[in-house]
Amino acid sequence: MNHTSATNVGVVGCGLMGAGIAEVAARSGHDVVVVESDEARATAGRDRLEASLQRAEAKGKIPSAADVLARIRVVTVMEELADRDLVVEAIVEDEAAKTALFRQLDAIVTSPDAILASNTSSIPIMKLAVVTSRPTHVLGIHFFNPVPVLKLVEIVPSLLTDRETVARSRTFVEGLGKEPIDCQDRAGFVVNALLIPFILSAIRMFESGFATAEDIDRGLVLGAAHPQGPLALADLIGLDTTKAVAESLYEEFKEQLYAPPPLLARMVEAGLLGRKTGRGFYTYDK
Ligand code: NAI
Repeated sequence: MNHTSATNVGVVGCGLMGAGIAEVAARSGHDVVVVESDEARATAGRDRLEASLQRAEAKGKIPSAADVLARIRVVTVMEELADRDLVVEAIVEDEAAKTALFRQLDAIVTSPDAILASNTSSIPIMKLAVVTSRPTHVLGIHFFNPVPVLKLVEIVPSLLTDRETVARSRTFVEGLGKEPIDCQDRAGFVVNALLIPFILSAIRMFESGFATAEDIDRGLVLGAAHPQGPLALADLIGLDTTKAVAESLYEEFKEQLYAPPPLLARMVEAGLLGRKTGRGFYTYDK
């Protein structure tokens, strides 16, 4: 991978995060292949990308949505990642699914210099690194939602990642106009280790009937200058993802503050996943 010019980037998963990562990479001039699991999801992913890029064009942030879209291919065949220099995995937050995928990527991506990165919010990178034949080239590159807007990226080497991989990843992230911070390989890294217990406390407060969702969120917006309250934020993250991240943190630290409250579990079981399904703590126009 060249440090200064365009890179062949791969992204796996074209949901909320994968589409955002593909968008920022293509906006910075990289050639991007995104893999989805089936044609219906690939179409949904393309629609998501197109809508976001058209919004960016309408706001004058990019000269042409069409030019950026021309650098992105959304496909359903994993083998199309063979020639990639850097692949970012952004599939569901599920350890078994991610380890299966890293085994597959290891077999498919041909260049020995290629970097295999995960956008996981909470799964230790080592669990993904050790299923590959190239743990020195595996690390976490963790973006924040919405990817085109938020500047932060957590860079997470495992104990086995080599320094060159970290340096090249930082260069890539900075080239996207993002600001990397270094984290150690512990569930939740820096931001989610602090943010998830806060969101879970807000859900417990709401669950206990102590205050309404609106008042909890207004409290934090007006009283602590947060851009949005914790329950609105959980709806934005996705309640399934919020619960999955909490479970990884609980698994790692076995501390009560990370345990998902029953209401969160019930809402996920009911399919009330937040913005992406139109209803969570609030309702949304889909
Ligand atoms: P999502 O549910 O919106 O998207 C996941 C996508 O992956 C789906 O479109 C699904 O069809 C696809 N997928 C699943 N298995 C696949 C496979 N084997 N091959 C190809 N595609 C596959 O989830 P979201 O929110 O985009 O999260 C993805 C990852 O990013 C998770 O690891 C999550 O923890 C992490 N993340 C999420 C953030 C958020 O705010 N939602 C923030 C930062 C990281």
